[in-house]
This record gives sequence, structure tokens and C-alpha cells, in this order.
Amino acid sequence: MAVKKSRRDFLGMAFGGFAAVGGVLTLGAMKQTWDPLPSVQAAGFVTVDLSPLQEGELRTITWRGKPIFLLKKTAEMKKNENRDVVVGNADYSVIIGLCTHLGCIPSWIPSTMQFKCACHGGEFDASGINTFGPPPRPMDIPPFKIDGMTLVLGEEGSEYKKLVAKA
Ligand code: FES
Repeated sequence: MAVKKSRRDFLGMAFGGFAAVGGVLTLGAMKQTWDPLPSVQAAGFVTVDLSPLQEGELRTITWRGKPIFLLKKTAEMKKNENRDVVVGNADYSVIIGLCTHLGCIPSWIPSTMQFKCACHGGEFDASGINTFGPPPRPMDIPPFKIDGMTLVLGEEGSEYKKLVAKA
């Protein structure tokens, strides 16, 4: 009699254990289903407040896994109406910081006001225009929108569409 009871208890505990494990696995699978796919996360927007940027200061942020250069131009830097993002009364370069030769990340050289690519010696001016070496074209401008002093990367605003139309 005592043996039967303990066997029943064992079966009950074993079944309960299987049910608990099954429940945990089901919850894990449900979470995976609910979580956004990596591609959806990567499509997110990034907002940047431009107001703290000083003249001549370069800030690099990451958007969709790419470096984005934000440079507030100084009076000495050549303006480029086909590429500059005008916010308030300041001009900014907003550039995907990847060399258009083979994709290295160029460095900003404040003394010469240019971007230099260490991989094969490519050079770009402060607007991201290729000026020397193997890069075949200017660095790309990411889609953006201006909202007051805020730059929204990943959204095609009217300012971006105007630049693209001029290109
Ligand atoms: S990758 Fe920049 S010059 Fe070649």
C-alpha cells in the first residue's frame, strides 16, 4: 500500500515537472515571437539635439550600425548649399562616416579641416566631398528630418528631400 502511494506521488511530481518545463519553454517561445526582429530594431530612428554642438566640433553617433558625423561648420569652412543642413543660422555637415572607397571610417583633422581615410589615403573636405585619393564620390548623407534644433535620423524630412533633389 505504502509503495503504491509513493509511486503515485512520484508520477504526480514527474508530470508536474514536465508541465513546468513545458510552460517555461512555451513562455520563451512566446517572448521570441513578441520581441521585435533585429531588422525592425535596426530601422529605428535616432534623435540628436544639435544645440550643444560648438562651431568646429565634430560629434560621431551611431545610427543603424553606421557612424554618423555631425559637424557644426565654422565661418572658415566652405559652405555647400547642396549638402549643408541649415538649422537656425548654422550650417552642419551630416554625413555617413564611411569612406566611399572601401568603407573605412575616416578621421576628422581639425587643423586642415578635412576628413582623412587611413586605409588608402583618401581625403574629403568638411562637407564630405572627396578631394583626393581613391574615394570615387562624396560620403553619403543619411535620411534625416529637422524638428526645431533636433535632428531625427532615419526619417526623410523636407530638408533631406531638397538636398537629394539638388544632388
Ligand atoms: S577605404 Fe578609404 S581610401 Fe580606401
